[in-house]
Amino acid sequence: MIIFLIGFMGCGKSTLGKRLARKIDYEFQDMDTEIEEKAGMTVNEIFAQKGESWFRKAESEFLHSLDASKNMVIATGGGAPCFGDNMEEMNRLGITVYLKMSPVSLASRLENTRSLRPLLKDLTPGVLPDYIGERLKEREVWYNKAKCIIKAESVKPAHVVALVFGAAE
Ligand code: S3P
Repeated sequence: MIIFLIGFMGCGKSTLGKRLARKIDYEFQDMDTEIEEKAGMTVNEIFAQKGESWFRKAESEFLHSLDASKNMVIATGGGAPCFGDNMEEMNRLGITVYLKMSPVSLASRLENTRSLRPLLKDLTPGVLPDYIGERLKEREVWYNKAKCIIKAESVKPAHVVALVFGAAE
């Protein structure tokens, strides 16, 4: 089974994903890292040199190349569910878990790592909470299609295990 962790930038998909995978002995993959390794450049460089649409195509190709029979935890990029048929594809391939976090929590977590993220790096810190609030509202149309939704502020791998394996039975 593939477990997809989805949610806004900064909600903790990669950190939780690694811990969850270790706990249940699944393989872990970070979608951004996979794309960066294949392209031989960082996400920032991809956006600057190839453009966002190239990156969105790479995300979609990555998802469509997955083998649903494998046991994997995948931390997706924050925008991945919101393009093309990616959300439908993830729901077809496995279990989607939306790590839901408030704009205020997201803004405080993203303050120091903004420079790594092409969509945030040129924003002034003061506008971050409003920007996140607006983007999140748009994106929740897709995020809310997840099979499981969990509050991300204090989530632990065991919570996801209970939710996912409960939902799969
Ligand atoms: C993006 C989120 C990023 C990365 C890219 C675009 C987005 O991943 O895929 O910068 O559109 O929200 P994280 O959610 O891991 O930061």
